[in-house]
Amino acid sequence: MTEAILLVGGQGTRLRPVTVHTPKPMVPAAGVPFLAHQLARLAAAGVDHVVMATCHLAEVFEPHFGDGSAHGLSLEYVVEDEPLGTGGAIRHAARRLRGGPDRPVLVLNGDILSGVDIRGLVAAHRERGADVTLHLTRVEDPRAFGLVPTDADGRVLAFTEKPQTPEEIVTDQVNAGAYVFTRSVIDTIPEGRAVSVERETFPGLLARGAYLHGHAEDSYWLDLGRPEALVQASADLVRGVVDSPAVPGERGESLVLPGAEVAADALLAAGTVVGAGARIGAGALVHGSVVLDGAEVGEGADVRRSLVGAGARIGRRTVLDGAVVGDGARVGADNELRTGARVWCEAVLPDAVLRFSPDDPAAPTGRRPQTTEGLQQ
Ligand code: GDD
Ligand code: MG
Repeated sequence: MTEAILLVGGQGTRLRPVTVHTPKPMVPAAGVPFLAHQLARLAAAGVDHVVMATCHLAEVFEPHFGDGSAHGLSLEYVVEDEPLGTGGAIRHAARRLRGGPDRPVLVLNGDILSGVDIRGLVAAHRERGADVTLHLTRVEDPRAFGLVPTDADGRVLAFTEKPQTPEEIVTDQVNAGAYVFTRSVIDTIPEGRAVSVERETFPGLLARGAYLHGHAEDSYWLDLGRPEALVQASADLVRGVVDSPAVPGERGESLVLPGAEVAADALLAAGTVVGAGARIGAGALVHGSVVLDGAEVGEGADVRRSLVGAGARIGRRTVLDGAVVGDGARVGADNELRTGARVWCEAVLPDAVLRFSPDDPAAPTGRRPQTTEGLQQ
């Protein structure tokens, strides 16, 4: 039996407005809550008991995943009254573990999409006899992560969470947010207060001479801290760039959920997902994007690398490229929202028709209307 703790209690601040109504791990990717992919990958790797460490918006997890039997797992939930931090959450969740002190316990950050070989990670932990084994990956810019230099044997030499100075950036090898702890090591984390596993537990263990093993693996890895990463993850799941048994359909250029309506001449491409009850208008192009349940994309709209929230409406000919539109928002016709643009939930952006004439070079470039009459319709 292998057990796992999933850390899903963070606020997801950087994902707003996507996380206003939905905690980060429940935001849909490829048609199902992101967490479903992690649970499916754990089950496929032979994990049979998972404790979900929840805090922020805790109440939404259990109604959706229940006792886990539908996912081939036994699932339990623990709720923190106050955020206990990553280490405190692991300690708090450990009360539900069933294995003895020498057993390996997987711990996963809840916001990582990864192709890591989970069995391989546990096997490496056993073979090395480590106290903790950490999955490590390489990134171009390591500043937003935990830096983990290792020696030639993979022994962890230091752990520097979110380096502050150039001198601290000694490696591009970072903590990938998946660990195997020997159970007894979890029991050494202080109870009943906030603890950061990255800032306190790992440096403390190293200072006491514990054996932390770094398992470097360059499989698919994406941190979903930002909306563009979430959109990318969804597209990669739909296209099968990374494998998840939880994707509800065949791999391909698009995934259209039951109850969605897509106009015959609309074009869906690059891993786009269209949620249940959503509508895509005639001549619209939706490329590498996430359109959530009940949303509407107007005729001739051009949507790329963007997320359209549940029930949101995108007007005719509007261009979205790298934008996020919150749940229930309304973006009028002929607007243009580019990289980094975020429209808050329920916000209303009027039509842009009165601000541009059809041949104005500043008008949205997507599909310029041919006549002024067209504009006024
Ligand atoms: N239950 C609970 N309680 N969970 C929490 C809490 C808490 O108080 N705080 C954070 N979490 C969960 C988050 O939901 C997330 O799944 C995970 O713990 C990590 O927290 P983040 O807030 O996402 O941390 P980060 O992304 O800045 O950095 C972490 O992940 C990087 C890899 O993506 C660190 O582990 C870095 O070292 C690592 O490189
Ligand atoms: Mg994170």
